[in-house]
Amino acid sequence: MAKATNGLSPNWDAVLARSQVTAEGTKAIEGDMGIDEPLSPREVLNDFNPHMESIEGLLGPATPSGHTQQQRLVSSDDGQSVPILATQRRLAEITEMIHVASLLHDDVIDASSLRRGEPSAPAAFGNKLSILGGDFLLGRASVALARLRDNEVVELLATVIANLVEGEVMQLRAQSGAESTAPSKSAFSTFWQQQATPAQQDASAAAGGPTEAMFEHYMQKTYLKTAALIGKSARASVILGGFSSSPLSSSSLSSRSGSGPEASVKDAAYSYGRNVGMAFQLIDDVLDFKSTSAAFGKPSGGADLRLGLATAPVLFAWQEIGHKLGELVHRKFEGPGDVEKALGLVQNQSTGLQRTEELAKQHVQLAIDALHTLPWTEARDGLQGLAEQVINRIK
Ligand code: FPP
Ligand code: MG
Repeated sequence: MAKATNGLSPNWDAVLARSQVTAEGTKAIEGDMGIDEPLSPREVLNDFNPHMESIEGLLGPATPSGHTQQQRLVSSDDGQSVPILATQRRLAEITEMIHVASLLHDDVIDASSLRRGEPSAPAAFGNKLSILGGDFLLGRASVALARLRDNEVVELLATVIANLVEGEVMQLRAQSGAESTAPSKSAFSTFWQQQATPAQQDASAAAGGPTEAMFEHYMQKTYLKTAALIGKSARASVILGGFSSSPLSSSSLSSRSGSGPEASVKDAAYSYGRNVGMAFQLIDDVLDFKSTSAAFGKPSGGADLRLGLATAPVLFAWQEIGHKLGELVHRKFEGPGDVEKALGLVQNQSTGLQRTEELAKQHVQLAIDALHTLPWTEARDGLQGLAEQVINRIK
């Protein structure tokens, strides 16, 4: 078809001009059009690690007044009169559609009866319609995404969809006892290590856990299934505001660049979103122990344990309690009374819940640090409030 149609378009000359003549005299059209070249940094797209020190380490510190060198091109003295673009509002809608699609699928996988205080979609309409409803939302979200006409944004949001599945598959593998792949290290390995001496860690590994690798696996799964959506969407929003490096974007301001003020604003947004996302999921895992289904609006009171999942509160408690909790983890809390026993051990005989909250607070602080590399606005205060609220939420 290409041979049949190339040259028909009025843009053909421009397309052809972007191609290069190689030494052999052949046209390297594909290479020149960059179809193998990512628009976003590879660290962002392939970010399996929930902390991505490579980018967070580069975020500029705020000046003493709390302002950075960045200048707002459209000034607003009251810090609130700069409008939200229609594309950015649409992006928020796309993000919500992807999120809802993932929950429609998740409630099938988890056989969950309740969502947001109402019967879940599979409970109300059955598994088949719930899956198809999710697929339909993904299809409509993809159409809306294409119409934003920014390839860098398309790349980011499409990667989010893959990340959600990757996170869910990691969790499924953990449920079936197959979490053997070694995850990469994150900065928060120290958070795990500082709680145990090397001898304790060796003993723990010999006894089948909990090991640092299990904690890393949990953190990566958490990033992929929750934080990637918020982080990459926040980054995409900034891109639509004029920080695009997409060569085919109508709003393209510059050629592809991985540094400079554009990159730092994108990285700040990404860091904010991903850290809020991490904190959100950590608190979600705490609330599974602390909240009731009625207050939480979804199955609670050990719902994760019933799915065979050892989340952060369990991993921390296991580190403190040892074998008594470990044997329940290894048999996926499937023995009679296992869930109740595990709930009691985590809640009453460990600091697992407090340590998980502490870790969530550290992520919130990282989110706020990223925000403070941006100039002050009321919106920035709002984002800070949102991050702080994640810690105090009860549902
Ligand atoms: C909720 O987790 C689930 C997610 C955050 C992501 C689920 C992702 C998939 C099912 C992959 C398919 C993705 C798409 C886009 C169709 P949870 O079960 O821990 O939380 P819950 O208690 O709210 O159910
Ligand atoms: Mg679920």
